[in-house]
Amino acid sequence: MSKTIHYLKDYQAPDYRVASTDLHFNIQNTHTEVTAHLSVEPQRAGAPLVLDGSAQLLSVSINGEAVSGYTLAEEKLVLENVPAEPFTLTVETLIRPSENKSLMGLYESGGNLFTQCEPEGFRKITFYPDRPDVMSVFTATITADAKRYPVLLSNGNKIGSGTLSDGRHWVKWADPFAKPSYLFALVAGDLNLTRDSFTTMSGREVAIEFYTRAEDADKVDFAVQSLKHAMKWDETRFNLEYDLDIYMVVAVGDFNMGAMENKGLNIFNTKYVLADSRTATDADFAAVESVIAHEYFHNWTGNRVTCRDWFQLSLKEGLTVFRDQEFSADRISHATCRIENVAMLRALQFPEDAGPTAHPVRPASYEEMNNFYTMTVYEKGAEVVRMYHTLLGEAGFQKGMKLYFERHDGQAVTCDDFRAAMADANGINLDRFALWYSQAGTPVLDVKGRLNGSGGYELTVKQTVPPTPDMAEKQPMTMPLKVALFDAENGRQIAFRRPGSSEEITETVLLLTEAEQTFTLENVRQNAVPSLLRGFSAPV
Ligand code: SER
Ligand code: ZN
Repeated sequence: MSKTIHYLKDYQAPDYRVASTDLHFNIQNTHTEVTAHLSVEPQRAGAPLVLDGSAQLLSVSINGEAVSGYTLAEEKLVLENVPAEPFTLTVETLIRPSENKSLMGLYESGGNLFTQCEPEGFRKITFYPDRPDVMSVFTATITADAKRYPVLLSNGNKIGSGTLSDGRHWVKWADPFAKPSYLFALVAGDLNLTRDSFTTMSGREVAIEFYTRAEDADKVDFAVQSLKHAMKWDETRFNLEYDLDIYMVVAVGDFNMGAMENKGLNIFNTKYVLADSRTATDADFAAVESVIAHEYFHNWTGNRVTCRDWFQLSLKEGLTVFRDQEFSADRISHATCRIENVAMLRALQFPEDAGPTAHPVRPASYEEMNNFYTMTVYEKGAEVVRMYHTLLGEAGFQKGMKLYFERHDGQAVTCDDFRAAMADANGINLDRFALWYSQAGTPVLDVKGRLNGSGGYELTVKQTVPPTPDMAEKQPMTMPLKVALFDAENGRQIAFRRPGSSEEITETVLLLTEAEQTFTLENVRQNAVPSLLRGFSAPV
């Protein structure tokens, strides 16, 4: 199959939306039959309906009538002349999870079945507009042998179940929140259940269910407690409450990523959920708590508000990494967590940004999206979010978050929408800040300080952004430079004033916008040593 390069500049809104998606999984020993009923809403009359898919296609029908005049090539199913009015599309496929070695779509691990659909795994299950800006309300009915697969899970709340005469049983799940296909999840198997619960800030009781292999059941308690800490923290720090009646986490040995934030049904690499108190190190425990929290925080930053397209991956990942970093800092120590995060950024992201695969936080193009789950998108993306926080302060940042959710809850949006919410909520212009999303490379600052002889300390800051393979010429970035001054003789922090202000301060954030700028800190007469980029206020 030929590979296509996708470009951010070519984005077009979908021609068809899918109001609801009703899935039926009939799990057999050697294969699974999937029937998908989609209520399709045309957006542009006459456009062909193009569905992504690589499953074995059994049948297609529209409003109950079989369709035969379609084309199927290069993992796209194309239907011409579909109705201009809303219609029901039914697609039947056959998949073989035990033969699926890609760890994407529906696959088998240790005799149990799991899904991974981010970014483009759903198309291995059925034919679908497999793109994050098509958000749909999903229901899923799973039928399987009751002995081999006693546990049948999908997103949302369980709304029905029953046993059949032939030793099989079924469960039906409904997720009331519209979501893109990449957040769909299904688990079927023989797994041990550990239960707990959490009472939300509005007094709702949420069931917590962790599923593991039976022999791992004694290693899950730390993760359960971590989840409860994360749920509480998101309420107190971000005023964000969980929205379903149940939150499930499933551990699996074979998994492509660290974990996945599927709505109401997280699937985790065992490494980030199981911690054996006899052997786990402090770092192991911290990693479990951080990943459990990260996936939980995605429920708002990723699921309720998702990405318009995969170029915007950092919209959810940069923001959610920032949130999990702040969670760990509040739980452990701001200083030690910041040192660890910056050490990792410098050790792993800086080389990426200086090497042959350097790319902006929002890449301009991709061939294989799986290759863009990078340190730049996640960790530099989190630094970009942290810069808004440094510029706006906690209160200003929270105003921006509130506006972001007011505007975009239930939508698939872009990094520009996030920036606009931060700017508009605080009545400032952040247009120049957009360069952080489009320019790769680690900026270099050259700073000179001197007493100016008239009672002030002058800092002259030059910035350069190095060329990267994708872009030779770069513009100066807007960034916060947090500074303080220390007395060269006694090492004490020196009070100073910003020009035009009478307030005595000992630390300030300078706003860099130009290739070269001079700032004066007033009322400084003694020999001073500047402390620059405090808290690592910009990824430079
Ligand atoms: N979306 C997943 C995560 O970051 C996979 O990387 O949590
Ligand atoms: Zn994530």
